[in-house]
Amino acid sequence: MAVEVRVLDDPAAEAARLLAAAASAGGHLALTGGSSPGAAYQQAAGLSAQWEEATLWWGDERCVPPDDDRSNYGMARDALIARLDPAPTVERIRGEDGPGAGAEHYERALRAAFGDRPPIFDLLLLGLGPDGHCASLFPGTPALGVSDRWVVGVERAGQPPYVPRISLTVPALTAARETLFLVCGEEKADAVRGAFGAGGEDLPARRVAAGAAHTTVLLDHAAAGKL
Ligand code: 6PG
Repeated sequence: MAVEVRVLDDPAAEAARLLAAAASAGGHLALTGGSSPGAAYQQAAGLSAQWEEATLWWGDERCVPPDDDRSNYGMARDALIARLDPAPTVERIRGEDGPGAGAEHYERALRAAFGDRPPIFDLLLLGLGPDGHCASLFPGTPALGVSDRWVVGVERAGQPPYVPRISLTVPALTAARETLFLVCGEEKADAVRGAFGAGGEDLPARRVAAGAAHTTVLLDHAAAGKL
């Protein structure tokens, strides 16, 4: 329930530090896609940390092959994973299998690792879309209401890139020990206010933050401009 908002000159650097610390603790980390985390992954790769005991998961994936420029896994592989030696365990979402089979495969992987309870990530990294989405849960869509599975296939994305998605559901996203939103840029300022400001709107990110054990929101000054 607790939400801590921090406005920083370089929020990606702080996200990198938190990722590296969680990895060194041997935790289960869930990564995100989009433009904001790339800098954090690159900086995390340069920090001294022990990644070999960590396991990397993802909050969502675009239904494209791993070498496609739009792949969330591919972005993290290039910015982070390929630079780590020894490497962590990687449990990627198979976007290339499509939203149905890809979601089933990831659900099985999560249940094999965590049992029949929602996955408890030690650190869940999320971004925030300008419409208030997080992972691939878009406002006003049925995926938001799924409560009997940890993973859902999303046929239609509400924001670019317009490819089907595979996403964790609200119960899976709210089970993490620590949830970290990394949000940069003026175009996110309205969504930041709606998701994390006083009053606010019923946005996916607000639902996740409301249900999570502890949430830290790392903002740059532009994203915090309307708080
Ligand atoms: C994705 C995401 C998505 C992302 C937000 C913010 O696959 O697109 O995981 O939820 O985190 O859209 O993305 P940006 O950092 O690019 O603004």
